[in-house]
Amino acid sequence: MSDTTRPLAGQIAVVTGAGRGIGAAIARKLARLGATSVLSGRTRGGLESTAAAIAQEGGQSDIVECDVTDLSSVNLLAKHVDSRFARVDILVNNAGIGGAGGPLHQLAPEIWDQILNTNLRGVYYCIRSFAPLIIRTGGGHIVNISSIAGKNALPNGAAYSASKWGLNGLSYSVAEELRAHKIRVSVVCPGSVHTEFSPHPGKDPERMLQPDDVAHAVQMLVTQAPQSFASEVVLRPTLKP
Ligand SMILES: NC(=O)c1ccc[n+]([C@@H]2O[C@H](COP(=O)([O-])OP(=O)(O)OC[C@H]3O[C@@H](n4cnc5c(N)ncnc54)[C@H](OP(=O)(O)O)[C@@H]3O)[C@@H](O)[C@H]2O)c1
Repeated sequence: MSDTTRPLAGQIAVVTGAGRGIGAAIARKLARLGATSVLSGRTRGGLESTAAAIAQEGGQSDIVECDVTDLSSVNLLAKHVDSRFARVDILVNNAGIGGAGGPLHQLAPEIWDQILNTNLRGVYYCIRSFAPLIIRTGGGHIVNISSIAGKNALPNGAAYSASKWGLNGLSYSVAEELRAHKIRVSVVCPGSVHTEFSPHPGKDPERMLQPDDVAHAVQMLVTQAPQSFASEVVLRPTLKP
């Protein structure tokens, strides 16, 4: 009989940007549900903290340093996961950066590149490397962590907004490409979340979304019945912060 408290037992979940914030909360949640969480990010120390928290909760994890802007680094991550586990059930593309605030016409091209290369190209790289493994596994989930800034105007954050609008379009399109392989590609668009990501001046942290709220949305997506496909979650705080 299957263990209803650990519906993801035996599954492998890769989470980018798992060393802190929303990614750490998602990796912990998936491990609590029984998956082995593969924690990736550029900073080993953060990944080790998440791994320690997962171990304390009785879960399983693995650590692989990876920069999502570097195709060879992403390929190495996929190769490691393939040789160690020979399957991938869940890929959460969470790694992302904000950017210096200000009007687009004053934005340095290098900052534009950093934002787009992390938030959009990085997701393309991860899907490029992992989709074949998920297809071989027989299906699974790809969850892209976008933002409400991918649905609304964000004055003084145009590059970030463009990266997330792009990510939404990528997600809807790839969802159609991979449906026939039993891979559900969904996108989560949270409003402001209380993390180290960027200052949220004037917002009450108590009213803001918490990282675990995003993890809860991911849990909902990856524990759906096989015939059900929630393709998008827009997550807002109940009270305006
Ligand atoms: N916080 C919010 O208000 C909010 C709202 C909506 C959506 N989001 C989205 O949620 C996601 C996570 O945000 P967060 O608030 O948890 O931010 P965070 O606390 O700053 O964490 C970002 C994570 O991404 C990793 N990362 C950054 N660049 C990377 C790269 N090139 N390669 C691999 N990993 C990289 C970071 O680790 P290393 O630096 O160690 O690599 C870190 O673990 C982002 O995509 C963000 O756009 C955030």
